[in-house]
Amino acid sequence: MTSRVALALDVYGTLVDPIGIRQHLKQLLLDEATRVAALWRQTQLEYTFRLTAMGQYLDFAWVTRRALEFALAATGQSLDETGRAALMAAYDDLECFADVHAGLRQLQTAGCGLAVFSNGTPPMLDAVLDRSGLRPYFGMVISVDEVRTYKPSPRVYRHAARRLGLPPDAVYLVSSNPFDVVGAQAAGLRAAWINRSRAVFDTLAPPPDVVVTALTELPGRLAETTHNPIDEVSSPQRRREGRRERREKREPK
Ligand code: 2OP
Repeated sequence: MTSRVALALDVYGTLVDPIGIRQHLKQLLLDEATRVAALWRQTQLEYTFRLTAMGQYLDFAWVTRRALEFALAATGQSLDETGRAALMAAYDDLECFADVHAGLRQLQTAGCGLAVFSNGTPPMLDAVLDRSGLRPYFGMVISVDEVRTYKPSPRVYRHAARRLGLPPDAVYLVSSNPFDVVGAQAAGLRAAWINRSRAVFDTLAPPPDVVVTALTELPGRLAETTHNPIDEVSSPQRRREGRRERREKREPK
């Protein structure tokens, strides 16, 4: 990537929907599919936080499987090994949020350098990017597995910036997960929060400057920021056009 600013996009919860797995759960369990889906995701994240605090690393496929075991046991569900394996396979086939393809297309057209940056293992990310058709938008896939620790350790955010060949403040972390946004900002990155559900932000830190309710709003919102990645990454012609468009917006004829 040669852009002077890049966007590093989170995957689970931001590009694809882990809670959408309840559709598969509904086919396998008699009830509680929604509760199991939510507890599975919550436990998966909690295990990553706890492993990081313990200074240990077991990869995201392991964590995801263990979190599923917990969610099933805690909700009193019995599911045989074939069913459990089917759910793990479905995790590689999670659906994109509705705004994702259009938003990535717009960011790509605006000239933004786009990278995937996730807790997922490289095989998990390969599978989900291929099956969702998202891979062509991205110039780079960065997995925390490369540094064997999880978000929000500052090590992973600095690693992402290093992989992109940029200083931390030239990278925008784009995520729907507030803990990810807070972690990125604490490590010196910029951040954009995709708040589709109009949720309340963490109280651990202020929300980032860039908050949108869909990825399709991001190009416009970034163009309004003082540190404008769209201007910085695009061609001189696009920069001139962008300045003209913004001038015209301010001074309608
Ligand atoms: C991801 O790294 C945090 O699960 C989220 O993709």
